[in-house]
Amino acid sequence: MRTARTIAGVRELLDASRGATTTVGLVATMGALHEGHLSLIEAARADCDIVVLSLFVNPTQFAPDEDLSSYPRDEERDAKLAEDWGVEVLFAPTVEEMYPPGFATSVVVGGDLSARLEGAHRGVQHFAAVATVVTKLLNIVAPDVAYFGQKDAQQALVVKRLVSDLAIPTRIVVCPTVREADGLARSSRNAYLTPAERARAVALSRTLERTAAMIANGERDGVAAAAAARSELAERGVDPEYFDIVDPERLTPVSEIDAPVLVAVAARVGRARLIDNVIATPGSAGAS
Ligand code: PAF
Repeated sequence: MRTARTIAGVRELLDASRGATTTVGLVATMGALHEGHLSLIEAARADCDIVVLSLFVNPTQFAPDEDLSSYPRDEERDAKLAEDWGVEVLFAPTVEEMYPPGFATSVVVGGDLSARLEGAHRGVQHFAAVATVVTKLLNIVAPDVAYFGQKDAQQALVVKRLVSDLAIPTRIVVCPTVREADGLARSSRNAYLTPAERARAVALSRTLERTAAMIANGERDGVAAAAAARSELAERGVDPEYFDIVDPERLTPVSEIDAPVLVAVAARVGRARLIDNVIATPGSAGAS
């Protein structure tokens, strides 16, 4: 594996190996690599000749009261894992390389995709920051395919939208959420959980599963299903920032469930802010 820290450096590495038939896959990360990242790398390795992993804790996507300063950082560990997992090029730029003095451009995906769910709680600026850094990474690496996780469902929709709107010639692949044995979605922020909080955190995936089962079994009332889920979370000692049932492409609330919906939750457990989601399909119970 080769590592580049500058934009010119990573382009040089890629240009040297990119022939007419070589495909490049990008997995964009903020490090603290886990099995979820591994699944993205495996998908990229299956499709592409060269896998690039970007490792950049993007400061602009953290609100002032969020965990930028304590976000887990261990580049040596991440570089070793990336190499073991078959990454060919690690792009680990500095903040100055990505945001040199005078940097003044922002990519904003307007409307519901940025404003709902996470946008309503973290601020729309969060997705402008994600959209800007992802656009820059796509321009730097010029991948044929870029891989994102379904756990960050809203981020994946924002990225798909900007790639389509700006005619960026990269295919976006969204890979399934990777879970611990008890259902907890893998996340770099799980590292913040104490053992007692870790036990409580499983409430998110359990409640999502239960809600998906209710919908599969015929529940059509989105408001009632979300209310039942909120009380289940409260019983399990978790107070969600949101638990919403929304259109899986537009993120608008769904009150009458007659097509697949995205069921999404965010909650603080201790100092970890966790998010998770599932797609629920009405009346699918018993379907083969
Ligand atoms: O999902 C993440 O880790 C980040 O939001 C991303 C896509 C690497 C942009 O900073």
